[in-house]
Amino acid sequence: MKQVWIIVIFSYVAFVGITSGKGVDLTFPKGFLIGTATSSYQVEGAWNVSGRGESVWDWFTKTKPERIADGSNGDTTSNSYYKYKEDVKYIKSLGLDYYRFSISWSRILPTGYTNQINKDGIQYYKNLINELLENGIEPIVTLYHWDHPQFLEEMGGWTNEIIVDLFVDYARIMFKALGDKVQRWVTINEPTLICRYGYYVNSLQIAPGKDLGDVGVYLCGHNILKAHAKTYHMYDKEFRATQNGQLSIALQCMGYVAADGNDVDTAFQFDCGWMAHPIYKGDYPEIMKSRVALVSKAQGYSRSRLPRFSKKWISYIKGTWDYFAFNHYTPVYVTRDPDERKGIYNSDTGLINGILPSWEASAGIGFYVLPSAFGDLLRKLKDEYDNPPVWITENGCPDHGEIEDYNRIRYHYLYLTELLKAVKRDGCNVKAYTIWSIIDLFEWNSGFTVKFGIVSVDFDDPSTPRSPKLSTYWWKNVIKSRKLLPIPTNSSMMLKKEFSSCHARSGPFS
Ligand code: NOJ
Repeated sequence: MKQVWIIVIFSYVAFVGITSGKGVDLTFPKGFLIGTATSSYQVEGAWNVSGRGESVWDWFTKTKPERIADGSNGDTTSNSYYKYKEDVKYIKSLGLDYYRFSISWSRILPTGYTNQINKDGIQYYKNLINELLENGIEPIVTLYHWDHPQFLEEMGGWTNEIIVDLFVDYARIMFKALGDKVQRWVTINEPTLICRYGYYVNSLQIAPGKDLGDVGVYLCGHNILKAHAKTYHMYDKEFRATQNGQLSIALQCMGYVAADGNDVDTAFQFDCGWMAHPIYKGDYPEIMKSRVALVSKAQGYSRSRLPRFSKKWISYIKGTWDYFAFNHYTPVYVTRDPDERKGIYNSDTGLINGILPSWEASAGIGFYVLPSAFGDLLRKLKDEYDNPPVWITENGCPDHGEIEDYNRIRYHYLYLTELLKAVKRDGCNVKAYTIWSIIDLFEWNSGFTVKFGIVSVDFDDPSTPRSPKLSTYWWKNVIKSRKLLPIPTNSSMMLKKEFSSCHARSGPFS
């Protein structure tokens, strides 16, 4: 009997240890990469200089300022167009392995068409890449992070199939111009988000801000998948032999939680699986096809609102990846919609998205902290897609811009503990982790009301000076030791001292 109790107590202690992060080896595996990211509209500013054309975000923020929490826009934002060298200094000082940034499509092709190529725009990205390489930082380039030329939007944007070939044309120009120095590309960032909130009016409307009912959203997704696949094949045919880079698409994958495992899967398939299934397995997930067909019929449509791929397209899209890239921020709690029992369909998923009251909120609307959901997601990706090499292309925590950003450090610490558990205990093939973001930036609908940077930007000062936060130092030490370090507390004198002496200076710390 005594032995049984000893075993029970031992197992409990071991369980608590594992789930709380204790007992996990907090050292990063050999070869594991840590980098950081931004996107063009969120940091560049310089919206109308050197031949840059209008993007959907210029148009949206100016015509619908009420959609942005503080009525602001990205006209100047963090001014990285002018201050990119300072950003690179910070990235280098921190010891980060890579910098993922995006290209402003309309800075290269002001109208989206190739008859007018803006050489100054290309030069800007060449300069940035050279600066990174000279400082030993790998550039990772995202071709599209939501800011397509407004001219293309006038023609229907992502709902008009013509954009597929125009995207490929644009990608070709970038591969030609930068591909000799870039080894890793992301074609499109978080496609489901642009489609879901860009072409459907609801509380979180983003550019281009069109109300295309529940039809535009899937048209957009369909064309994005085609554009991604065609770009991948074009790279294979025209550039891979000489440039030998890696391509993928950065998906949005939330951490779904539900009382019933089937509901977790449905929610996952409609979110991450919407794009991942066609690329990693072939065609849309079954549950999406059957549910959208069912709801479309109940709504009186003569065919499903989810377009169908021909057999040719299914096999053409399948396999267009070299690594699995995804962004992750928050958990979502899903429950079945009780209306469906009465034959009322309120959504294609049949689920209601919510949260659990016990979840910790952050400063950002819709951003909650639940590290275990991240760990579960990593294990789900491993099982679902045959354990591909995974790059977490974004993860981070919004706050109100506190310089002593303990919450941000805590968030990274807890999420990385889950990551290390998933890698070391469960064999998940995670290769890299990207901090969002290196500097404070324009946060879409939230404008400048929330901050994601591990380096602060003073947006009230026209020279947008950067200065370190507490997380700058924490990250620097983590990267130096290649190990997760404890979350500093108010009584952590060492960090406080280091922090205050460096904060007095402006510009990158040494
Ligand atoms: C993901 C997006 O890619 C990025 O642009 C945004 O700032 C973060 N989510 C935080 O909302």
